[in-house]
Amino acid sequence: RRPGEPPLDLGSIPWLGYALEFGKDAASFLTRMKEKHGDIFTVLVGGRYVTVLLDPHSYDSVVWESRTKLDFHAYAVFLMERIFDVQLPHYNPSDEKAKMKPTLLHRDLQALTDAMYTNLRTVLLGDATEAGSGWQEMGLLDLSYSFLLRAGYLTLYGVEALPRTQQSQAQDRAHSADVFHTFRQLDLLLPKLARGSLSVGDKDHVCKVKGRLWKLLSPARLATRAQRSTWLESYLLHLQEMGVSEEMQARALVLQLWATQGNMGPAAFWLLLFLLKNPEALAAVREELEHVLSRAEQPVSQMTTLPQKVLDNMPVLESVLSETLRLTAAPFITREVVADTAIPMADGREFSLRRGDRLLLFPFLSPQKDPEIYTDPEVFKYNRFLNADGSEKKDFYKDGKRLKNYNMPWGAGYNQCLGRGYAISSMKQFVFLVLAHFDLELVNPNEEIPEFDLSRYGFGLMQPEHDVPIRYRIRP
Ligand code: HEM
Repeated sequence: RRPGEPPLDLGSIPWLGYALEFGKDAASFLTRMKEKHGDIFTVLVGGRYVTVLLDPHSYDSVVWESRTKLDFHAYAVFLMERIFDVQLPHYNPSDEKAKMKPTLLHRDLQALTDAMYTNLRTVLLGDATEAGSGWQEMGLLDLSYSFLLRAGYLTLYGVEALPRTQQSQAQDRAHSADVFHTFRQLDLLLPKLARGSLSVGDKDHVCKVKGRLWKLLSPARLATRAQRSTWLESYLLHLQEMGVSEEMQARALVLQLWATQGNMGPAAFWLLLFLLKNPEALAAVREELEHVLSRAEQPVSQMTTLPQKVLDNMPVLESVLSETLRLTAAPFITREVVADTAIPMADGREFSLRRGDRLLLFPFLSPQKDPEIYTDPEVFKYNRFLNADGSEKKDFYKDGKRLKNYNMPWGAGYNQCLGRGYAISSMKQFVFLVLAHFDLELVNPNEEIPEFDLSRYGFGLMQPEHDVPIRYRIRP
């Protein structure tokens, strides 16, 4: 809808929630709308007006707008209730954020990063050693998602016992594998669950899987775990202070497992796949890694941490990660309009938003896939975010003007991802360990990069339509 025009009525599509407003293939629907109507338009979906803004020069006026006008939390509440069956009495998102934010930053971030390195080694090297010295075949998504989620779970939710023994580590591997496989069954059904389109059989299955996850993550079970993160301790205390029952706490912990672990594994999958399909990129990352190893005090087999200073100084890997996320991170950035307001566009126009309507940014279309900003936007170029002198490239332009928000996998503004420091370190550590310890190759070197599972637009990282078989073996 342009100002003065009648609204577009998309018919009787039922209201299904933020992530799902635009049917199965949201990206192509929004692309068509952008071609017809430009960078801002409003659609009527199931009786609600949703204003879609696709001009990255104007995103800042939304993401830095006060909470009293544009509210972020309605989406979180939707996810909580509709997908994860969580209802929290006296839920105050700002209070929760104030309590949780410090647990993901500074000293606590360092503790998380160190624990993640240890846990990644436990699951990656332990599983590979157990399997023996030959080649193992598995799907690359399965490998990336399972190792990252298992290590992430052990890092946030705690390990079996201290001091770590071979036996306790074997238990950590078995238990975290159980958590991953159970979680993954729910994750696979998530788009359908959120859309309310589960078959009767699926519904039964989801019920059983959720029940099992609630048991695995029950506060009573977690009470026995060692080295729990400050993040978990603070979250549990916060739930207890709100008077949340143990049963509801377990549900909230399953929601948090998804919120904290649902994106890193798929991101690492795409990253490794792009490297395997681009030998020049893989060689550049390997060269950087060799450099890190040549300056380390110990051989990689004895390294118990990867210092933050080293992690922060891997520009090639950083560029590869940014390029991967540019191509595969497709969250909807949604805000509920809670008071009549006007958004100023960068070109001087101003659009009125009515209380009760919704606002949606989709940075995946622009800036991330915008041909004006990125030449050949569909193509993976490992050095796209590198300057000739090896420093990070930060200057990208649209309409002749330099862009502030040129890649937005983490969102931006007040609600930018709080876990990004931890997520970036974790993914770098994972790639580092895989490349340092494993030989890894595609089973079929001519394997094409799979299409996206289109039903996942809006949820965060895209997942492939099917997995890609790889083989790996531990280096002697
Ligand atoms: C590749 C991994 C990840 C990606 C791509 C990602 C992306 C995002 C995005 C797009 C948002 C919403 C921004 C908005 O709507 O404005 C967000 C919010 C958030 N993320 Fe992440 N995230 C990742 C990993 C994590 C991890 C590992 C944690 C915690 C351990 C985390 C914690 C959070 C929190 C707490 C928020 C809400 C911030 C708020 O309330 O203002 N994320 N993330």
